[in-house]
Amino acid sequence: MKSIEAPAIRATLGHADIAPLIGLVRATGYFDDAEVVIARELMELHLAQGAETSGYFFEVAERSAGVPLGYACHGPIPATLGSHDLYWIVVAPEAQGQGIGKRLLAAVLARLRARPSARKLYAETSSRPLYRPTHSFYRHCGFMEVARLPDFYRPGDDQIIFCLKIGLPRGIPGCSHGRLP
Ligand SMILES: CC(C)(COP(=O)(O)OP(=O)(O)OC[C@H]1O[C@@H](n2cnc3c(N)ncnc32)[C@H](O)[C@@H]1OP(=O)(O)O)[C@@H](O)C(=O)NCCC(=O)NCCS
Repeated sequence: MKSIEAPAIRATLGHADIAPLIGLVRATGYFDDAEVVIARELMELHLAQGAETSGYFFEVAERSAGVPLGYACHGPIPATLGSHDLYWIVVAPEAQGQGIGKRLLAAVLARLRARPSARKLYAETSSRPLYRPTHSFYRHCGFMEVARLPDFYRPGDDQIIFCLKIGLPRGIPGCSHGRLP
């Protein structure tokens, strides 16, 4: 079923967001305990140092104040010229398939397009069958698979690196298939 009511996307993260967002990360069933710890650390670094110093930017989707439905965390990759990482993008299981992921990605891209130096957005993910819908999401939103690191996470579990070229109009929201040169 498609969107009931478009959520608002805000570019601010508060201390009160940590518990619900971590609950949401756990609720997806996609992330193990070590990954949940990292998700929390990125939030805490952002809150302690701010986005620019920490390098971790957040976009939070919510349908009503204080009830987040998903978030994206992204930032410039240190020591690169204009390469950015989509560290995390998560939508609450009950809210998936309603276009919220696309809206979060649109917010990330809007922020990156305001930076003249931003060139590419990378997303790394697992090759496990669990992640097939995630691969579909990235491809649908214009990401291209640019590399695959065999057995990266564990034997039989490759890392797939997706990349989206920033700056070309992609029609997001609505997403379209992109091309990398
Ligand atoms: C991946 C994720 C963020 C996508 O968010 P979402 O709100 O469900 O995605 P959207 O509704 O915006 O879907 C956008 C497009 O992606 C594709 N897509 C999304 N979910 C899909 C699925 N389960 N199967 C196939 N395609 C899918 C569709 O083409 C969809 O476009 P359409 O609705 O026009 O057909 C979300 O499903 C999620 O949190 N997954 C678990 C965590 C995860 O894998 N995060 C990424 C790694 S950090």
